[in-house]
Amino acid sequence: MNRTALSMAIPLILFCTSWLTASAQTSTHAADAEGHPWWQNAVFYEIYPRSFADSNNDGVGDLNGITSKLDYLKDLGVDAIWISPCFPSPQVDFGYDVSDYENIDPMYGNLADFDNLASEAKKRNIHIILDFVVNHTSDQHKWFLDSKSSRTSAHRDWYIWRDGKGPGQPPNNWVSTFGGSAWKFDPTTGQYYYHYFYPEQPDLNWRNPAVKDAMFDVTRWWYNRGVAGFRLDAVDTLFEDPNLQDNPIAHPGKNAFGDPFEQNKYNTKLPEVHDILRGLRQVADEHDAVLIGETWTADVAELNQYYGKGNNELQLPMDFLFTMVNKLSPVEFRKQIAEVNGASGWPTFVISNHDIVRSYDRYGDGKHNDQIAKLMAALYLTLRGTPIMYYGEEIGMKTTPPTRREEVQDPIGRKGWPKEKGRDGERTPMQWNSSENAGFTTGKPWLPVPPTYKTHNVADESKDPDSVLEFYKQVLKLRHTNQALLDGSYSAINENDTNVLSYLRIYKDQTVVVALNMSGSPQKLNLDLKRNGFSSATRLVATGKSTAKGDEVSLEPFGVFIGQLAK
Ligand code: NOJ
Repeated sequence: MNRTALSMAIPLILFCTSWLTASAQTSTHAADAEGHPWWQNAVFYEIYPRSFADSNNDGVGDLNGITSKLDYLKDLGVDAIWISPCFPSPQVDFGYDVSDYENIDPMYGNLADFDNLASEAKKRNIHIILDFVVNHTSDQHKWFLDSKSSRTSAHRDWYIWRDGKGPGQPPNNWVSTFGGSAWKFDPTTGQYYYHYFYPEQPDLNWRNPAVKDAMFDVTRWWYNRGVAGFRLDAVDTLFEDPNLQDNPIAHPGKNAFGDPFEQNKYNTKLPEVHDILRGLRQVADEHDAVLIGETWTADVAELNQYYGKGNNELQLPMDFLFTMVNKLSPVEFRKQIAEVNGASGWPTFVISNHDIVRSYDRYGDGKHNDQIAKLMAALYLTLRGTPIMYYGEEIGMKTTPPTRREEVQDPIGRKGWPKEKGRDGERTPMQWNSSENAGFTTGKPWLPVPPTYKTHNVADESKDPDSVLEFYKQVLKLRHTNQALLDGSYSAINENDTNVLSYLRIYKDQTVVVALNMSGSPQKLNLDLKRNGFSSATRLVATGKSTAKGDEVSLEPFGVFIGQLAK
């Protein structure tokens, strides 16, 4: 933060000291109305292309399907779509095993379809973000096919090849996060190659400058085709210790795949990652593009490293610690929000994605799930930061895991069954209407459509003013038009409250209060308006009967109140 911004923050902080806590008082963030880059105030939306909309009715979603839903997305309030990998791929990891970075998988369409999507999105001012799988390729990528062909092939050193420790023994103890040794023996050349994920996903050797050049060129190629940025997959794992030291065992026992619990000391988060991120950022900056990171950080100090010193790495490293607050706890959310609010870059909030159980289930109590889905929407869409939505969240889609091993599509589910059921549950087809297959396809959907499509779908919820979808639209509309929600500082209030999470967003003379009842009983919140220099609180968006009268905000169970404070 620069000095001018800091000096702007001070009067705002002093202004409402009676509400503020130590964490908020030490926050140095202030509003930044002018000149912030396009991505800062944008709402992002992740699309898992297999599951979004199927235009040719083969049971798998595609790019033309996405194009056909752009009006829906615009109307919802989405400014940028992140499309999970749609490049040619054997689909072992459903696209996260790329065999050609500069094309579209025929199952999703072709480059002409992509260009059409890009131009239709542009007409609606929606940016396109692609998913760049940087750590590994498919074992069917031409680079790897050449690499494994002989020890002297041109691409041999593009991947990590090593001799075993002895006959039948891999080079070290590293285990794949998807189960088993992270090394696979290749009989053609008598060496092992390294794969942090599936054996079909060999890790690239980022120490080789040719790899770096080729991968950087991939980003240029897509920028020149109109892409506005990338979500960088698995950046934590780009580099490995060249000496291949064994990882320490974190604790005794075995994981769902029967492997030891290792501390990934020598194969994740090596400092060299940051050189690459700085380089990718330089290229991105030449194209006014954004880099979002799949960054599994242990704390905010680690998150700060991904922003880079001087904010020269990722603009939007995702804060997964936020998703790890796994219960509706004002205390825990307050703590996590304060921490990320104090990070050295602009926060990025996510509550669901294609790898984690949907928020609808993580927070739902089985009785008030729709109400809780609205509460969560009100939370991450009103915080100071960029939200990344996940398709279906806006209609209250639930996680629907397979019930039998034979039904499982995600290989980790087949391997780890029943302890690990895989990620099919959070990747089921988008629920567009109540017709067969939820309007996703007239073919056989690649994953079964959950029975909830009858009650939770776009068509029906659009007609119901109390639906989760309509609530999302209201909050998103407010967010796009309210300067305090876009650019305002964040200050926690009433910090001892264990039922209601409440905070202010302050921009110049504009103050918005957000009150979220995280309990199943009605709650009241005293705004103490006079003492804090205000005369009234006016409802902007609220659920049901939640309302403000005088100093008091009344919240129904799991209720939301977002209001404007007037002086
Ligand atoms: C993270 C992706 O989100 C996940 O779906 C994938 O399996 C791994 N990276 C490997 O690419």
